[in-house]
Formats: sequence, C-alpha cells, structure tokens
Amino acid sequence: MKKVYIRSWGCQMNAHDSERMLGVLRREGYAPVEAPEEADLIVFNTCSIREKAEQKFYSQLGRTRRLKRRNPALKVVVAGCIAQQKGAVLKERAPYVDYVIGPQNIGRVGEAVHDAGGVFTDDDPELARRDIPAERGGSVKAWINIMYGCDNFCSYCVVPYTRGRERSRPAGSILKEIAGLAAAGFKEITLLGQNVNSYRGDASFAELLSSINDIEGIERIRFVTSHPKDLGDELITAMRDLDKVCEHIHLPLQSGSDRVLKLMNRKYTLDEYLKKVERLRKAVPGIAITTDIIAGFPTERPEDHAATVSALEEIGFDGIFAFKYSPRPMTRAAEMDGQLPEEVKSERLTEILRRQDRITEAKNKALENTVQEILVEGPSASEEERMTGRTRTNKIVNIPLSDRVSPGMLLQVRILRANRHSLEGEAVGGQ
Ligand code: 5AD
Ligand code: SF4
Repeated sequence: MKKVYIRSWGCQMNAHDSERMLGVLRREGYAPVEAPEEADLIVFNTCSIREKAEQKFYSQLGRTRRLKRRNPALKVVVAGCIAQQKGAVLKERAPYVDYVIGPQNIGRVGEAVHDAGGVFTDDDPELARRDIPAERGGSVKAWINIMYGCDNFCSYCVVPYTRGRERSRPAGSILKEIAGLAAAGFKEITLLGQNVNSYRGDASFAELLSSINDIEGIERIRFVTSHPKDLGDELITAMRDLDKVCEHIHLPLQSGSDRVLKLMNRKYTLDEYLKKVERLRKAVPGIAITTDIIAGFPTERPEDHAATVSALEEIGFDGIFAFKYSPRPMTRAAEMDGQLPEEVKSERLTEILRRQDRITEAKNKALENTVQEILVEGPSASEEERMTGRTRTNKIVNIPLSDRVSPGMLLQVRILRANRHSLEGEAVGGQ
C-alpha cells in the first residue's frame, strides 16, 4: 500500500477538494498518513486568498526539500489556488515539486502521479459534469459541491482567477450523491459554492433545496457562501418552509461604507443589505447571521471604517470573520491608489474584532437556559471528557461524555453557560 500525506489550507471548498483527491488516490492504491515523513506522496492543497495563507504554504514547502533529499522516490504535488496562479513557475523555483494541479484538475491527480511530473492548470469546461469520488473525514457531516468557480470579480478577490468561470453541477448528480451519503448514515450536508445563490443547474437553488429536503435520512441542510446581491425572496421562502434547512446564513458584508462597497464591486449598498437581513429575520425567526469583513481596503477613510463598525452594531451578527486587506496579484484593487499602511489596517481590524466580540458574547449569553437541538459530532477537539455538537444556528455546544450519546444523534440540550467561542450544555431528560 502506498502512502499519501495531504495538507490543506483555505476554505471549505478546498478542504473538500482534498477529500476528493484522497478519493481518487485511494483508487490508485494510496492510504492516508498523518506525517509527511512516512509518505510516498505529499499533496499540498494551497490557498491564495490572502498573503498570509500563501506564506504558510511556502514555509511548509521549504521543509519538504529535506524530505525529498532523504527519499528521492518521494513525489510532491502542489494543488489548489496557488498552483493555478503560479503554474510552471512553482516547479522552476522549487525543482523538488513534481506536479502542479489547479482546482479544476484535481480529478486528474490519479493519472498525474503515474507521469514523470507535470503541470495541470488548463480550464476544464466539463468540470461540473464530472463525478469525482470523495473520501470524507467523519461520518455525520458531509460537504457537497453544487457549483464551481466565480464570475463576480469583487475587486479584491483572487478566486475568479484561480477557480475559473462559474459552472453549476446538474441537480441529478447532486441528489444522487446526497442519497448515497444518506444511505451511508450521514445526517448533515453543506452545499458548497462560491456563490450558491446563483446556482443555475437544471433547477433553481430553492428548488434544489426542496428536493434535498425530501431525501430520507438527511436531517440538516446548510450552504455556503451566499452573495447578498443574489439573495432573493425565493430562497428566503425556502429557508422558511423547508424543515431541514438550518436557521443560519453566512452573508459576507465586507464593508459598511457604500463608497467602499462600490470600489469593491459588490453591487449592493448597505441599505439593500439591511433590508435583506430584515426579510431574513422576519421569515426565519431566530436565524443566525454571520459575515466577512475586510479592514483597510484601499482608500478606506476613517469615516468608511466607522460606517463598518456602526453596521456591525446595528446588525448584530452572530459571528464574523474579519481580515486585513491583502493585495492579490491580478486583482483590480491591488492596482488602486490609496493602499493603506499595515498599522492602519491592523488598528482597524483590532477595533472591528473587539466590538464584535462583545456582540457575539451577548448573543451567546442570551442562549443560557434555553433548550436547543444539537447534532452530536463526536469527541470535543478542545476539551477532554466532552462531546461536541452544533445547534441548527451553527453554534458549538460541548456536553459531558455519556454512553447514551453517540455521533449522529439529534439531542435536546439545555445551555448552561456561554463562553466566547462555544456553549456548555447538558442533555435534557438526563441522557
Ligand atoms: N484581502 C483580505 N480579505 C480577503 N477576502 C477575500 N479576498 C481578500 C483579500 N484580498 C476575504 C473576504 C471573503 C473571505 C473569504 O475572504 O472577506 O469573503
Ligand atoms: Fe478557497 Fe479562495 Fe483560498 Fe482558493 S483562494 S482555497 S477559493 S479561500
């Protein structure tokens, strides 16, 4: 049995691409290992969304040279978004890299490793019609691709250049994969796409959700990511009416300033965003809303930043991911005048995170003494003697270990205490 070490950075899409590369490599006789030193094949599935993500990969790559010297038979694959952007240059700069495989070509990793080496970064117009096997981590929750690529060209974002044009997977093949997962005992699925609201398979996104809702055995349906400009009433109604669709939406705002939103090419104003939040909250009581924020976009003035902070206060998100703006090759924003110094970006980011921490804490505190349904996932990663699960609103709840509780169970729990990033609970009815 040959051994493969796979390391992945970046978004859930990338994590799932790694699961599919493992699915393909399994058919080629590979089994996964936990340490690069034990591997015959190393796969780095890279992310280029921000410079920091790139740096993490390069420092890991540097350490691989030594492994290759010790074991010349070792093969090294660089996959993912950096692979797509850098292409053959990666092999020139790091000759110990054997294969470079972009996100549209991960299905070819099996055939690639039979070659002497190569660069696989062509556009694949058939991508959405290929069924690439996946070997998933865990057995309760599963990711599913529903679309690939992105056509939005937000001015800061590298994704349209790395993942190519938007393409929807046919509904039939999505439903078939989910039925298979249900039969295998999976309870929760997360539909993946850069912009799931613009899904245009042979059904609309709301119709797709409705068909998935009918699949027996699946208990919960989630999806990421939504774009505010494409979030319409059809989806809001589907979220209201479909019992398995969870009360959570991740809806990246990016900035609270209309001037900056325009420069970002987001195609909505703060006011339009607020109206959608209002409609969501009205239709789906208790819905959790999370977001992404970028601090220090080029030309961002103190009043733009203040508008973002006040939007955070006004909306009251359940959680946010906030990042310092990072100039990315090929993107329009990287060429703009008015790039801000690191200190300014850091200061603004710190303020955003500090303000939001208080909001998140208050939101979590409000759940103390309520009863919530959690889907039990398994042992807690951070706390010993605890099991972990999530509410339908995607909040992590830790509960005491018990013989009567096992992964995959839906459990009613009373929330005893709110911490900043998780909740403590106990099963109702003494389980
Ligand atoms: N700099 C900082 N953050 C970025 N994001 C995307 N591109 C950049 C960039 N160049 C953030 C956005 C997006 C999230 C996935 O990453 O907030 O929603
Ligand atoms: Fe995912 Fe974007 Fe990073 Fe590519 S660049 S791995 S699409 S977050």
